[in-house]
Amino acid sequence: MSNFNTERVLSVHHWNDTLFSFKTTRDKVMRFHNGHFVMIGLEVNGKPLMRAYSIASPNYEEHLEFLSIKVQDGPLTSHLQHLREGDHILVGRKPVGTLVLDDIKPGKRLYLFGTGTGLAPFMSIIRDPETYARFDKVVLVHGVRVVSEFAYADFITKELPQNEFIGELVREKLLYYPTATREPFKYQGRLTDLLTSGKLAEDIGLPPLDPALDRAMICGSPAMLQDTCDLLNARGFVISPGQGEPGDYVIERAFVEK
Ligand code: A2P
Repeated sequence: MSNFNTERVLSVHHWNDTLFSFKTTRDKVMRFHNGHFVMIGLEVNGKPLMRAYSIASPNYEEHLEFLSIKVQDGPLTSHLQHLREGDHILVGRKPVGTLVLDDIKPGKRLYLFGTGTGLAPFMSIIRDPETYARFDKVVLVHGVRVVSEFAYADFITKELPQNEFIGELVREKLLYYPTATREPFKYQGRLTDLLTSGKLAEDIGLPPLDPALDRAMICGSPAMLQDTCDLLNARGFVISPGQGEPGDYVIERAFVEK
């Protein structure tokens, strides 16, 4: 049996010249935890060309959703960016990953720190009722270079709070903090700088990060992960070692070399 299912593209949305997302059918027996990633790809020159993608849709939806950059000469995304409704795509049978609620200790507030396509796993996690059952506040910080990269901003601020199942929880508990680094915007600067300066805490009206109460999930480039881990470690946070042993925070690389 092949390691991949063939799924059909249901819709494609281009956010800007460098970023797009798409929905696909989902195999009935495919199971995953919100926050997981899976290998997806296309057959190129007769061979499957696969890359890791976080699943942006929650695990109770019938379809799958993915967020991707477009790299003009990228081995996979140079093809993937031309996907259209009705096309076929390969999706791995075994979702995995470390950005899961079960690896986080109980706490009061959950911070989701994502840069670029590192937002994707959090789009799944903020649609999981379990997230709101475990935490009083959920703070989604999305750092991008330019404003057009704030994918899903309208969905997060307008649609999700009206969702018939989790809208009320979202209105009560979710704080969305988009920040841009290379263009003027309401919130500006790297999330690491905003944490260090206290600007983030001030803007959202919450106290500075406290390992006794706060928990975090981080997804971004290797440099972003390193800097954010250093910052949390310096404040006494302990990373989950994985294997189901919970910690104060978990990390996953945003998969961008496509
Ligand atoms: P900057 O514009 O200052 O590089 P990228 O597309 O390179 O992954 O960047 C996405 C966002 O993450 C950008 O806003 C970028 O800021 C920011 N970023 C890049 N490196 C780091 C880092 N080490 N710590 C925090 N934010 C970072």
